Amino acid sequence: MYELWGQGSDYEELEESIRNFPEERKSPYLQPGSSFKISVESFGKAISFQEQNERIQGLAYIPFKGQVNLKSPDHKFCLLETADYGLNNGLPPIAQRRIFFGREVGGADRKLIPTYQLKSRTYLGPTAMDAEMAFLMANQALATSGKLVFDPFVGTGSILVGAAHFGAMTMGADIDIRVVRDGRGPDCNVWSNFKQYGLPPPIALLRADNNLPPWRPGLKEVQQQYLHQYYLFIFRGAEVSLPLLYTDGH
Ligand SMILES: C[S@@+](CC[C@H](N)C(=O)[O-])C[C@H]1O[C@@H](n2cnc3c(N)ncnc32)[C@H](O)[C@@H]1O
Repeated sequence: MYELWGQGSDYEELEESIRNFPEERKSPYLQPGSSFKISVESFGKAISFQEQNERIQGLAYIPFKGQVNLKSPDHKFCLLETADYGLNNGLPPIAQRRIFFGREVGGADRKLIPTYQLKSRTYLGPTAMDAEMAFLMANQALATSGKLVFDPFVGTGSILVGAAHFGAMTMGADIDIRVVRDGRGPDCNVWSNFKQYGLPPPIALLRADNNLPPWRPGLKEVQQQYLHQYYLFIFRGAEVSLPLLYTDGH
């Protein structure tokens, strides 16, 4: 996912577009003392290593003042070039050549999936949440360090595992005492699912019926957002605000 700094159908248009992108949006990422990396991606054609270097040199009008760091840069940029696609008997292409330049603001970490996939999870139930879906939910809930994520239908804890991966503290509840207390034995339970990945364990697992939620009435700091399948509460440490991601009844 990129913050788009400019685009064009050729490099002249791209330059004009990048120059027109507001200075205050660019300059924080061009500062001396920072490090950066520019990668070149192409779609519909291959760009040789030498061509990639030439493309990068062609961006010299962007006043990067930081150092290049290819291994762990502070800021990552991408030049993405697509080829004309679908040229046919002199007719215009279906998709025209387009060049984009942007700053990376996020990316999918596909490497997480093999690590967390359910088939290698110790404690599984028939409705254990798929790892990829759990990560999506955790991201939607902005689960991160300093927040507390609560899943009132915790089951095997698979949603909380996703939230804990992103640094959130976790807490779960389930109506079934066997789920929160026993699992399938001492090394096969919600706790062991966290241990398996070296994640901090939930701060608590409660036995609770969420038809009778154990929260005080009129909890004013509750905000609500829709998310399918389960409830997730997030308590923000300092503000104690509580976005509630709630179920559609499945
Ligand atoms: C679909 S499973 C949750 C699966 C869980 N997300 C996981 O990854 O394993 C639903 C869980 O909600 C629990 N449950 C059902 N009704 C409940 C209620 N009224 N209050 C609390 N938990 C309830 C069930 O015991 C079950 O463990």
